Amino acid sequence: MRTARLAALAKINLDLRVLHRRPDGYHELRTVFQTISLADGIDISFAPARRTQVTLESAVEIPDNLILRAADAVLAATGRTGTLRFALRKRIPMGGGLGGGSTDAAAVLLALPVLAGQDLPWERVLEIAAELGSDVPYFLYGGTALGLGRGTELYPLPDLPARPGVLVAPGIHVSTPDAYRALGRELTSVPYSPILNTFQSLVWSLERGFLPGLAAERHGGVSNDFEPVVFRQHPRLRRLHGTLRRLGAEPARMSGSGSALFGLFPTRQEAERAAAALPGETVFPITLVTRRRYQARWRQSLREHIAMDAETSAWPLRSRYSR
Ligand code: C5P
Repeated sequence: MRTARLAALAKINLDLRVLHRRPDGYHELRTVFQTISLADGIDISFAPARRTQVTLESAVEIPDNLILRAADAVLAATGRTGTLRFALRKRIPMGGGLGGGSTDAAAVLLALPVLAGQDLPWERVLEIAAELGSDVPYFLYGGTALGLGRGTELYPLPDLPARPGVLVAPGIHVSTPDAYRALGRELTSVPYSPILNTFQSLVWSLERGFLPGLAAERHGGVSNDFEPVVFRQHPRLRRLHGTLRRLGAEPARMSGSGSALFGLFPTRQEAERAAAALPGETVFPITLVTRRRYQARWRQSLREHIAMDAETSAWPLRSRYSR
């Protein structure tokens, strides 16, 4: 029996712009993904056997759980069979724009080939990830990353420092397809240039390792195109955003299509003070997690099962059971 205790970390979108609706029904995006310290816990165990049997234990019922879909896809691609068990401790709020289901799926894509002893071509892993959901491929890399297209075309950005912050989960479930529909973007391929111009300014700042404040206050700052439509539907979110700003968060934004809001602070003390000033809200202390740290955590979780490469920073990880 090969076992591992995994941490599937959440993401925030430091910035998210929606350009146009595409012929395939998805929207063309420009986004900056960032890993945060909030995580689901997943215990995984695999024992090779002639027949495949997969079970998932979880205190919360999750319909159409991406963990099981990811496991089926990996076993089919590797051709391995066995007894596979998952125990999920769900901590990332669902329907919050934090990629909770996506990071769980990516965790399976990273860990299961290692445990099953069959490394897959990385292109195949990326392909399976994109089939599972638009946010899944990002979690195969982590850190600060630029997402284009559906959000599945990824490029590394220099890691931002591990800044402290707070995450507010207001318990409002925003439907992602509804939020996209509410934007009312045209079916067109003409680039929406004002959006692209300010997004480029932001990425050039990030390239220098500098995270600007809010777009409204400083040219080239961070923005989220979903905020106006989602805040209109849920005025409580607009008020919470205002509160985070007053408490000194810079920047404060909604993540993805909502409803979670994050605020970053210069120090842990200021973040803690802000959390204490939000009584009655579900607030999580968070830290930004670099790609280096993200990949090091993966290496640590799977250390008993990975091949010891001469290069300790090799990514993706390779199985020690591979034949
Ligand atoms: O890929 P995923 O299943 O996460 O997407 C959920 C829904 O969000 C899609 O069915 C689509 O309505 C919308 N979406 C979109 N454009 C994207 C990503 C998601 O329109 N780039």
